[in-house]
Amino acid sequence: MKVTVVGAGAVGASCAEYIAIKDFAAEVVLVDIKEGFAEGKAMDLMQTSSLNGFDTKITGATNDYSKTAGSDVAVITSGIPRKPGMTREELIGINAGIVKTVSSSILEHSPEAIIIVVSNPMDTMTYLVHQTTNIPKSRIIGMGGALDSARFKYRLAEALGCPTSDVDGMVVGGHSDKGMVPLIEKATRNSVNVSEFLSAERMDEVVQATKVGGATLTGLLGTSAWYAPGAAVSELVKAIALDSQKMFPCSALLEGEYGLNDLCIGVPCILGKNGIERIVEVSLSEAEKVHMIESAAGVSKTNGLLNS
Ligand code: 2OP
Repeated sequence: MKVTVVGAGAVGASCAEYIAIKDFAAEVVLVDIKEGFAEGKAMDLMQTSSLNGFDTKITGATNDYSKTAGSDVAVITSGIPRKPGMTREELIGINAGIVKTVSSSILEHSPEAIIIVVSNPMDTMTYLVHQTTNIPKSRIIGMGGALDSARFKYRLAEALGCPTSDVDGMVVGGHSDKGMVPLIEKATRNSVNVSEFLSAERMDEVVQATKVGGATLTGLLGTSAWYAPGAAVSELVKAIALDSQKMFPCSALLEGEYGLNDLCIGVPCILGKNGIERIVEVSLSEAEKVHMIESAAGVSKTNGLLNS
């Protein structure tokens, strides 16, 4: 498998590193507009190959998409990250133009590529890729829910005092501080509903901490997080590479699913060699349905900024 990662910043480079370490791809091409930056990151990463034991070949290119030709998957991380106090939605003005140009450049050299969108506001950027390319909707995946679910599991494990390997939970809805929908009623500790271990108040604390997980880190770091975003993307790419049929919450174009249309928002998706193999409509409680509709309204409002 050949993977292109556009944007050799912290998220893109972490994504490339995790893909290499998991060693399921033959090649990763890092692309950036800053002269020599992607080449430098690629060379530095390649110099870990004997230490981390991977055979994946990582190369870099300065805005030269010819080197990305024939990519099976292309990850778009380029654009500006948010600063403390900013919302992801405030990035739309700059990032929309970048994502539009980048997706066109990717498809010019890799017309069959599956595109994974990370740049924020991610749900709207994913929708923009649908609007500006004519590739099948199964080949456009927004990465947000996999990251948010990882943060949800972290907060659940913290509250339960157990390893994250003992918990399971999924976050759907928009990848935004107010729009996320952590499915707390479905979260489990080793198949037992977490409500048997946590009070309603503590579960709500877990939900709230999850929703602002990104903002919390931006406040601490002074910029957006990169390790967990990069790792989350690498898991989506791995599922495609291995045709694993794993289910992840991904931002997908909805055409009636969950009663929603004409937007991209986080829903459970089965991932395989074709990208989104299918969207899964899980049963939602009345409260979860309300949260999903509210979340969709927020995403649609941000989508409206694309045409302003
Ligand atoms: C995050 O939540 C960057 O949106 C990404 O960290």
